[in-house]
Amino acid sequence: MKKKVTVIGAGNVGATVAQRLAEKELCDVVLIDIAEGLPQGKALDLYEASPIECHDAKVEGCNSYDASAGSDIIIITAGIPRKPGMSRDDLLKTNMSIMKHVTSQAAKYSPDSILIIVSNPLDAMCHVAFETSGFPKNRVMGMAGVLDSARFRTFISMELNVSVESTHAFVLGGHGDTMVPLPRYSTVAGIPITELLPQEKIDALVTRTRNGGAEIVNLLKTGSAFYAPASAAVEMAESILKDKKKILPCAAYLEGEYGIDNLFIGVPVKLGEKGIEDIIEINLTASEKTALAKSADSVKELVAELKKFA
Ligand code: APR
Repeated sequence: MKKKVTVIGAGNVGATVAQRLAEKELCDVVLIDIAEGLPQGKALDLYEASPIECHDAKVEGCNSYDASAGSDIIIITAGIPRKPGMSRDDLLKTNMSIMKHVTSQAAKYSPDSILIIVSNPLDAMCHVAFETSGFPKNRVMGMAGVLDSARFRTFISMELNVSVESTHAFVLGGHGDTMVPLPRYSTVAGIPITELLPQEKIDALVTRTRNGGAEIVNLLKTGSAFYAPASAAVEMAESILKDKKKILPCAAYLEGEYGIDNLFIGVPVKLGEKGIEDIIEINLTASEKTALAKSADSVKELVAELKKFA
């Protein structure tokens, strides 16, 4: 039977996710947005590209959730960016209420689905989706590490002039300034980059990775990155839909792993048909552990702020 994925939020990220899912012919796609006409228009446009792109994925757009019923995966990209004069708290409060609304609708129509959260602030939004849906922890996850690792891989390949396909990278922690790129576990054809590049070059690549989102925002002037975020969400969805069991860094709910409790944060997980099928604990040095703990602290602060609005 054909798989079905609902994408909530038909903006830049959501529409690109829908396009990639359809063009890879992974599933039928339902695109939902609050803006009238927007998901319908983008979905029809994508559907009309299918004879040329040679796929039979159906793409449907709507404002209500009934068409999403029975989805295997729900990818949530709905939210608003920070507007002039808006504090971080205002943004957090607004996106929290959007996340609550869309998650409760999605969970009602697709109670057995797996949720992939993309909306920012990512780790905090995962908490909202987890609590609102009441889904088990293996069926709620956030997209951040795949994107951050892809950025790191791109910069490594640019620096060493090698195929991106020969690179591998791990970025753990929260999706923000405190993310933890791990050069020791980042390789070219299996060789750690610590053996291929001097420390100052590695430091520069790590800094560029940490600022990867801001670099794109500064270039675009309005809006944030969407091509690579969409690719990252689709890689996660593909691993689940095809039960590939890829090991990918994702925001997962930790209960003691890495010494972190009751918190969503980026760690390597195994993604298969049941969602997060395993959390992989890799050995970290003392300084890597400290960096991860610091990153966890900043996610905890945001989660504590969420509680103020609850
Ligand atoms: N229900 C459904 N859709 C909503 C709702 C809601 N309650 N509220 C807002 N939206 C929709 C908006 O109408 C808009 O079309 O979410 C969409 C967001 O799209 P963009 O503004 O283009 O934002 P985008 O670049 O796609 O980013 C979406 O992903 O990477 C993150 O930081 C990014 O949180 C942001 C999210």
